[in-house]
Amino acid sequence: MVMRRLHQTDPETAAAIDREIDRQRQGLEMIASENIVSPAVLEALGSPLTNKYSEGYPGKRYYGGNEHIDTIENLAIERAQKLFGAEHANVQPHAGSPANLAAYLTLAEPGDTILAMDLAHGGHLTHGSPVNFSGRLFRFVHYGVGQDTELVDLDQVREIALREKPRVIVAGYTAYPRTLDFAGFRRIADEVGAYLLVDMAHFAGLVAGRVHPDPVPHADVITTTTHKTLRGPRGAMILCRQADRLRPQEKRDLAARIDSAVFPGMQGGPLEHCIAAKAVAFQEALQPDFAEYQRQVLRNAARLAAVLADQGIRVITGGTENHQVLIDVTPLGTAGREAETALDRARIYVNKNLIPFDTRKPRDPSGLRLGTPALTTRGFGEAEMEKIAGLVVRILKDPRSETVRDEVAGEVRELTADRPLYPEYVLTIND
Ligand SMILES: Cc1ncc(COP(=O)(O)O)c(C=O)c1O
Repeated sequence: MVMRRLHQTDPETAAAIDREIDRQRQGLEMIASENIVSPAVLEALGSPLTNKYSEGYPGKRYYGGNEHIDTIENLAIERAQKLFGAEHANVQPHAGSPANLAAYLTLAEPGDTILAMDLAHGGHLTHGSPVNFSGRLFRFVHYGVGQDTELVDLDQVREIALREKPRVIVAGYTAYPRTLDFAGFRRIADEVGAYLLVDMAHFAGLVAGRVHPDPVPHADVITTTTHKTLRGPRGAMILCRQADRLRPQEKRDLAARIDSAVFPGMQGGPLEHCIAAKAVAFQEALQPDFAEYQRQVLRNAARLAAVLADQGIRVITGGTENHQVLIDVTPLGTAGREAETALDRARIYVNKNLIPFDTRKPRDPSGLRLGTPALTTRGFGEAEMEKIAGLVVRILKDPRSETVRDEVAGEVRELTADRPLYPEYVLTIND
C-alpha cells in the first residue's frame, strides 16, 4: 500500500507517517505497553466507520442508520464476553483512563475512599495520582510493595483496608513484573465490604491466552485497554458481572450502571472504527495461535530477565512472571533518562521508570521498564532475546560511547531486517 492520496494532499503528514512506519520497522520495540496490530486490525481502523455517529448502544441509538454499526458493536461485545468469560462487556471506552473513570463513577461517589497501588511502586496515574482526575475526585489511599521482597504484600493491603474502609479496592499495575493474587484481594474486599476493581490493562492478553491468573471470577468490575498485550487497537473496555454484591437493592444491575457511566455519563459518540478493530482483534485472540503467542511473550520475558541478571543487572523482584522486566540501572553509573536516550539512539525503545523506593525523581528515575509483547509479535524468540539483552547491557554499560552505539545500531539493523514489518506499506522517504 502506498499512501498516494495522502502524499498528494498532505505531503507533510504523509512523510511523517512514512518515517514513523520506518522507525517501527527498523527498531526493537521493548516498551511493555506497546504492541504491533495485524493488518486486518489496521484495515478496520482505517475504514469509513469513522464517519458514523452512534450515541447509545446496539438497538438503542440516538441516530439513524446504525444497523451495520450495531452488528459490529455486538460482534465486539460477544467476542469480548467469550474471550474473558464475562457476563457483560462495554466496548465503548476510548482509552484506559476514561474506562477507569467510568468504573470509579459506577462503584463510588466523588469523595469516597479508593485503595489502589502506589504510583511510585507500579500503579497507574488513574489509580489516584493527585495530578489526575482520579486523585482530584476521590480520596485515594495506597498500598505498595515490601522493601525487601519488592512484591505486593497482601497483609499490608488488608491492614490499610481495615483501617481506611475503602469503597473500592483496585488491583492492577502499570509497572510490576509479577502476578497478583486476585483471590486474596477478593477476600480482603469481602472482609471490608468493598468492591474489587481489577485494572488488567497490562496483562489482559496474558489472561486471554490463559497463561496468567484469571481476575474475572474474582472481580466485580474489570477494566482494560485493548492495545497492550491484547494486541488490538488503541482503546479500552469494561467487563463486569451483572449482580451487585454490595448493593443488591439497587434497581439497576452493575452492567446497566456501567453502560450509563460510559454513555451518557462520560462520553458522547463511540469510535466505531475502533470498536470494529476491537472486534477483529478479539477474534484473533480467540484463535489457538494467540495462546501460543502469549506463552512466547512469557518465555521471552523470562529469558530477558535471566540474561540481564546473569550480566550483573539488578532485576527488580529478581525476575518476572509476566511480560515486563523492571531493572535498576543506577549501579552501572547511569540513570533512567540517560539510559532511555542512549538505547533510543541505537533504535532500542524502552521507557525510564521509577523502581520501588526510588530515591530519584520520576523525570529521571533509577530504572527502566522493558517488555516483550511487541518483539514477540515481530517473531523474536528466546535466542534473539539473549542477543537483545546483550545489546541492552552494552549500551547501559557505556551510554555515552558513540562507537558502542554504532555497533549496537548495526546489530539492531540486522535483527530487524530479518523480520519485515508491514511490508504492504511502500514508503516514500527522501533523506
Ligand atoms: C494499568 C493501566 N490502566 C490504565 C491505563 C490507561 O490507558 P490509556 O493510556 O489508554 O488511557 C494504563 C496505560 O498505561 C495502564 O497501564
